[in-house]
Amino acid sequence: MRNYLIAGNWKMNKTPSEAAALAKEIVPMVKDADYRVMVAPSFVCIPAVIDAVKGSNIIVAAQNMANTEAGAFTGETSVLMLKDLGVEMVILGHSERRHIYGETNEIINEKVKLALANGITPVLCIGELLEEREAGKAEAVCYEQLEKGLAGVSEADLDNVVIAYEPVWAIGTGKTATPDDADAIHAACRKKIAELYSDAAAEKIVIQYGGSMNPGNVKNLMAMENIDGGLIGGASLKADSFGELANFNK
Ligand code: PGA
Repeated sequence: MRNYLIAGNWKMNKTPSEAAALAKEIVPMVKDADYRVMVAPSFVCIPAVIDAVKGSNIIVAAQNMANTEAGAFTGETSVLMLKDLGVEMVILGHSERRHIYGETNEIINEKVKLALANGITPVLCIGELLEEREAGKAEAVCYEQLEKGLAGVSEADLDNVVIAYEPVWAIGTGKTATPDDADAIHAACRKKIAELYSDAAAEKIVIQYGGSMNPGNVKNLMAMENIDGGLIGGASLKADSFGELANFNK
């Protein structure tokens, strides 16, 4: 079975002290989870959260990073800084980064390669806009984001990559893709990975679903063959609800 990953993307919510308190509340709730559990606080909250989850099974991730290692890039955060803090994963190419901050597939690809080179697992986010879905282009958009986002990544390195399919129209809107619709795109992405790499790589890669996942819909989504976890925004901001999500199979 694939190594499922249930992840909370806290986005620009919680101050460092609030983030530490939430992390401490989550620790006992997810300690017996059967699958990997990750939280992604904002940069300034990372040290407090790492401290709060020390000795637990929680993986701490960043929500973004720069596409270069160091230098005159005012306001940016380097992979070396994240590594030094003990960050293990990084969300890259989230739709809010693509659509609000204009990140291109090329920039995201640089970040993916930089994360891998520094031993940090990238969670590469892909997903179509509503108008792209309505125009029948959902698969094509995801294929392009996958192909360009993974350009130059070897099959060995792909073992350390997680994909998150997040249809943009489902993020923070309360509209979830139906399990069948989500699974169809996940299956298509797996086919694309098989084309780019191999059948074995396609079978192994973890593809999370994201977009209004919550305790009420997680079971049906996770029951689908090609869905291997969730990247959860709104429903990850309360310990109870995130605890339920992390224990969805119990
Ligand atoms: P949401 O966000 O669960 O609030 O829809 C998911 C995400 O953007 O990662």
